[in-house]
Amino acid sequence: MNLQKSASPLMDEQLAFAERVADIIKATYVEPPKACVETYGCQQNVSDSEHIKGMLLKMGYLLTENSEEADFVLFNTCAVREHAEARVYGNLGALKHLKRRRPGMIIAICGCMVQQQSVADRIKKSYPYVDILFGTHVTYRLPEFIYNLLMGKKRVFNIETDQKEIVEGGPVSRDGDLKGWLPIMYGCNNFCTYCIVPYVRGRERSRAPEEIIAEAREMVAMGFKEITLLGQNVNSYGKGEAHGVNFAKLIRMINDIEGDFKIRFMTSHPKDCTEELLDTMAECKKVCHQLHLPMQSGSNRILKIMNRHYDIERYLHLIDYAREKMPDITLTSDIIVGFPGETYDDFCETVKVIKRVGFTSLFTFIYSKREGTPAAIMEDPISREEKGKWFTELLKAQEEISRKGYGEMVGKTYRVLCDGEGRVPGRMSGRTDGNVVIEFEADASAYGRYFLVRVNELTNVLCGTIID
Ligand code: 5AD
Ligand code: SF4
Repeated sequence: MNLQKSASPLMDEQLAFAERVADIIKATYVEPPKACVETYGCQQNVSDSEHIKGMLLKMGYLLTENSEEADFVLFNTCAVREHAEARVYGNLGALKHLKRRRPGMIIAICGCMVQQQSVADRIKKSYPYVDILFGTHVTYRLPEFIYNLLMGKKRVFNIETDQKEIVEGGPVSRDGDLKGWLPIMYGCNNFCTYCIVPYVRGRERSRAPEEIIAEAREMVAMGFKEITLLGQNVNSYGKGEAHGVNFAKLIRMINDIEGDFKIRFMTSHPKDCTEELLDTMAECKKVCHQLHLPMQSGSNRILKIMNRHYDIERYLHLIDYAREKMPDITLTSDIIVGFPGETYDDFCETVKVIKRVGFTSLFTFIYSKREGTPAAIMEDPISREEKGKWFTELLKAQEEISRKGYGEMVGKTYRVLCDGEGRVPGRMSGRTDGNVVIEFEADASAYGRYFLVRVNELTNVLCGTIID
């Protein structure tokens, strides 16, 4: 656990609540109680959960991954697609029986899904065993919520959105010791017509550069080998702030930190991704040559209705420019299939563009209607079944592209960071600068070290031999 540099007064208040909760816990439990945090959705949620866990440790909880043995269970939820919400409702239902067996346990739910008033209302009414519900703007207030629950025994529901400033300085308990998340901004201003994020996470707010640099330094000192900068649209970092540090400049500042570590970032928006940023990536030795640039659709007509503010010509210009500056760059993207009004011809445009680009891999989604977004009231005549067929067609096309790309890596040598076990005993797994997985013969002592690995073959995964 590490404490950030400058705790804001609002965080000081919460740290004081955490101490009071710790006193209550000490007086109530013989053994320290256990807390289980289940995270759904994106890396931003994973990062938020790391902050929540830091706070839970401060309050005297031990962490567990098993909800069956937990005294405190928290679901940190996602709202981006309906499927994620359905899973939460299902798993929440299962907790009812657990609570019946362990009446003293606290059940809490937070994150994007519950920031929606309709969801908060439904949980309040239909899930009476949920003790605490809090939204994305008040995550830092968890100690206060637990304290109020313990003192008043009344359920706590809070999805206020008044807190606009970022509250810095809380404790963090990071999941890994090698690769870490570093949020640089929160929220989104883009209002893509299909997306719920701007409604549940609020407007863009950037952290101060000195806070980010201090945290990055701390992570490097702790031995982290990879830092991934996080934001819904990292390319618009610092917009409208007096400090004048844009994303490219921020990357240079992090790149200047001494140490043997690498920098990644996500997510980039093609409308704000600049040539300056791509030049910076190419020039800064610590920045990985990997770019996740969500395209969403290959049809200009659909991009317009999606409110994406770029056309495919601009997208392809960015791809070509990135490749010109960094010939070894790995490119990935997000694609939505079956946006309202999309025709098969539009879809074929998408397939055409993904073939032209040759992405290393794709994150593909069937459009999911999100109440309250503009797309939710657009005509959507294509059946789910038809969209499923298009989706399979896209997967097949990309599979061929990916396999071809991986095949071209055979016979070449890559610098790889060993980050875990392989799929079979005796093998370890690592990732290239471009974030491609390669397995090689090694034992557990390889973990956390860099190796030069020559790729020998492509089976289900790339396999290679350490040459240095
Ligand atoms: N339906 C399907 N996919 C969506 N995404 C965002 N909103 C939706 C939606 N309503 C996808 C986008 C985004 C990724 C994180 O999730 O592709 O880039
Ligand atoms: Fe959603 Fe668009 Fe913002 Fe990404 S940029 S979070 S897709 S609104």
